[in-house]
Amino acid sequence: MLAGKQILLIIGGGIAAYKSLDLIRRLRDQGATVVPVLTKAAEEFVTPLSASALAAQKVYRDLFNLTDEAEMGHIELSRAADLVVVAPATADLMAKMANGHANDLASTLLMATDKRVLIAPAMNVRMWGHRATQRNLAQLQGDGVLVVGPNDGNMACGEFGPGRMAEVPEIIAAVGAALGDGPLRGRHVLVTSGPTHEPIDPVRYIANRSSGAQGTALAAALRDLGARVTFVTGPASVPPPTGVDVVRVETAAQMAAAVTAALPADVAVFAAAVADWRVDNASDSKMKKTADALPSLRFAENPDILATVSQMTQGRPPLVVGFAAETDDVVANATAKRTRKGCDWIVANDVSPATGIMGGSDNAVVLISDDGPEEWPRLPKTEVARRLAARIADALGAV
Ligand code: CTP
Repeated sequence: MLAGKQILLIIGGGIAAYKSLDLIRRLRDQGATVVPVLTKAAEEFVTPLSASALAAQKVYRDLFNLTDEAEMGHIELSRAADLVVVAPATADLMAKMANGHANDLASTLLMATDKRVLIAPAMNVRMWGHRATQRNLAQLQGDGVLVVGPNDGNMACGEFGPGRMAEVPEIIAAVGAALGDGPLRGRHVLVTSGPTHEPIDPVRYIANRSSGAQGTALAAALRDLGARVTFVTGPASVPPPTGVDVVRVETAAQMAAAVTAALPADVAVFAAAVADWRVDNASDSKMKKTADALPSLRFAENPDILATVSQMTQGRPPLVVGFAAETDDVVANATAKRTRKGCDWIVANDVSPATGIMGGSDNAVVLISDDGPEEWPRLPKTEVARRLAARIADALGAV
């Protein structure tokens, strides 16, 4: 998949650097040439000899090495690559990148390159959450730097949370997407996700328990296959994926407008848990308690975004996928919902509290299409997303 591509791999100084040695091997398995660059700190974790042996290439370490300059100057080194990958991207490297430092070989190459840069951050959970790092991240994303991970998990320092470097297959997928090599290259995919909030008054709202995890994972999986993803999200509790166009909305009406504005698309996936009703008599000012009466809310029906897009007579995306969160008769209800709404596929799941699916990290879905229901095993939401994205890519190949 990466045949003929050259990757400049900058290895930063963090414990995750050992995974970068495996990354070198896996990138080469895909046909890429990997030119490693080690920071001084990286050499505390992995040796230049290991990186060189695995890459079957010279390893670059020093900005002022005259032999290197004679053979290949740092400008040329930064330009010869098709993609620059920084893994692990430490807090310090991210700070240098965000602020334009060029005081060692790695930071100079990152300043000098005219190629896309993909970073795989890895650091302690508090360092990741620190305002400075988040500020730097926002700056880098604004500068067009691609980001993969970090993931949640147990960390070498004994803490738990976001900060673990993305796994090697995830980095490889991100490299493929960055080089535009995935099967969804050139395709535009629209994904809705998260809950909607329907105001009662300026401080109160009606919501649901959707975390946005499944929609977020799906958007990331579609991105990893090379799609351009527009991600329309309600106020979710998980952050949106990187490398997608994020449109933040609050209400169902705003979501409907954002979806219309994002069309045309090759595929539209409606993973959002949209409120069916809004409060018709929402108050412009905060409702006050009164001694004599309880407030009375009057509801109005929200636009059904999935049904509207499914039934478009012009400009309908060739593949429209809905979700059905059910608590009873999952397959029967979801099959009827597919017909009623007019979408091509429905991804149905049982969200009864006992399943722990809503708000949890696993999902057990039934994919309903023209071919009838197909039951998938209980899997992490990220894996459900990967499988669904692969099915979408297959289906689009056939459209
Ligand atoms: N959906 C939508 N707009 C709405 C309501 C739902 O786009 N106003 C989409 C959801 O994103 C999901 C699918 O429709 O893909 C299923 O929504 P759901 O609320 O479960 O279906 P309902 O039509 O509300 O059916 P019921 O209330 O009978 O479960």
